[in-house]
Amino acid sequence: MSDTRREFIAAIDQGTTSSRCIVFDRDGRIVSVGQKEHEQIFPEPGWVEHDAAEIWTNVREVVAEALDRAGITREDVRALGITNQRETTLLWDRTTGEPVHNAIVWQDTRTDALCRELGRNVGQDRFRRETGLPLASYFAGPKIRWLLDHVEGLRERAEAGEIAFGTMDSWLIWNLTGGTDGGVHVTDVTNASRTLLMNLRTMDWDPRICDSIGVPMAMLPEIRSSSEVYGEARGVLEGVPVASALGDQQAALFGQTCFSPGEAKSTYGTGTFLLLNTGSQVVNSYNGLLTTVGYRIGDQDPVYALEGSIAVTGSLVQWMRDQMGLINSAAEIETLASSVEDNGGAYFVPAFSGLFAPYWRSDARGVIAGLTRYVTKAHIARAVLEATAWQTREIVDAMAKDSGVELTALKVDGGMTSNNLLMQCISDVLDAPVVRPMVAETTCLGAAYAAGLAVGFWPDTDALRANWRRAAEWTPRMAADVREREYENWLKAVERTMGWIE
Ligand code: G3P
Repeated sequence: MSDTRREFIAAIDQGTTSSRCIVFDRDGRIVSVGQKEHEQIFPEPGWVEHDAAEIWTNVREVVAEALDRAGITREDVRALGITNQRETTLLWDRTTGEPVHNAIVWQDTRTDALCRELGRNVGQDRFRRETGLPLASYFAGPKIRWLLDHVEGLRERAEAGEIAFGTMDSWLIWNLTGGTDGGVHVTDVTNASRTLLMNLRTMDWDPRICDSIGVPMAMLPEIRSSSEVYGEARGVLEGVPVASALGDQQAALFGQTCFSPGEAKSTYGTGTFLLLNTGSQVVNSYNGLLTTVGYRIGDQDPVYALEGSIAVTGSLVQWMRDQMGLINSAAEIETLASSVEDNGGAYFVPAFSGLFAPYWRSDARGVIAGLTRYVTKAHIARAVLEATAWQTREIVDAMAKDSGVELTALKVDGGMTSNNLLMQCISDVLDAPVVRPMVAETTCLGAAYAAGLAVGFWPDTDALRANWRRAAEWTPRMAADVREREYENWLKAVERTMGWIE
């Protein structure tokens, strides 16, 4: 009989700024972590790219690092789960395994004009109806079309089946399972639901939508569930089943064990993404949210979600550190912001990639409003944190309108939740408690849970729920009149971002 105490699940989180591998034990506790950042490439204003070869090298390194730190070998790993930054688009040559261009990152706005043209020719409503998404530069389909239009000879090669498209899950699974030597070309329903190419009801690529965007179906991966064995890993994890894939936000929903309709979580990373489980119901949004797939376990029915996506939250703190030099580390923002009582009248709307939910305005660009000589960098630091809180409030309001459910508490996770001032501020502006679980790395945890379910490491979702434990809670302290006045000021500042790009 095998010694179950020595068995673990590993999960890779290929995120926007770094790649991580975390090893979990049967109680869902973190055993070890390996992590490495990759380069952010900004070739032009509004453009963001990643080098997919660098990412693949980093992923192999962080897997080896995590196993090493845990003091385990591949024999101790029952399954590997994958979670990833969603929408980031890569095309590679099936024969050589080489990317044909840098990956175009989800934050990139180069397809703005193309989206407007598609809206005029095909109509916004059609995309929303079939895919649950508004036509926006955020999603993968228009990025594929841009690459086919701009890399010489690529369209012909794609039509001939020589080129593969994938989001980062597909790229990693293909490489992990052998690459040019028999790698499987798959994606999962959650990642596919972010392409603007998948029909939400059939869970398959929609031939008419693909045709209208100009994407040859020969380049698309097979869509599979989020929790099943896609193949066996090679290399450092030789023989380990690759058994889950979920977009990172859906993985966090899974890791927070939001398995029942009405349960929601908000993940504070590079951007912030609030997802509400709507069960087997495809709930259409009339208030600027996305309808997306939450997860699908094996051949069970898919579970849908409503999503409020905010493009810039943690990345605004990074921008303050890397581009402005106002702080030396991300953690310093809390100390600086805590040194003043309030924002000094300043409001920072970080519409760097346009505005996502609930506005979907790609013509918006960032503003700092309300400046006077009184304002110091500490007030700006405070306005930076408040920007995340107010953007959350706008999403929560939209969700209440769409679902008819008032929020009673918000489950949070992600890197920014270590910032106590921010968590208090979110509780204040929502006028609701904010709760963080013991394991705040819910993205990797969700991928690990889905992989573990696929190989029988955990019996069912009830066993996963039993692992969820509250670590911290913040309750509202802001006076109602202050909250309403500040919210009005925030909304005035938001208005000033719009229409900046013609
Ligand atoms: O949709 C984009 C999202 O998946 C990126 O997440 O955590 O890498 O900022 P993150």
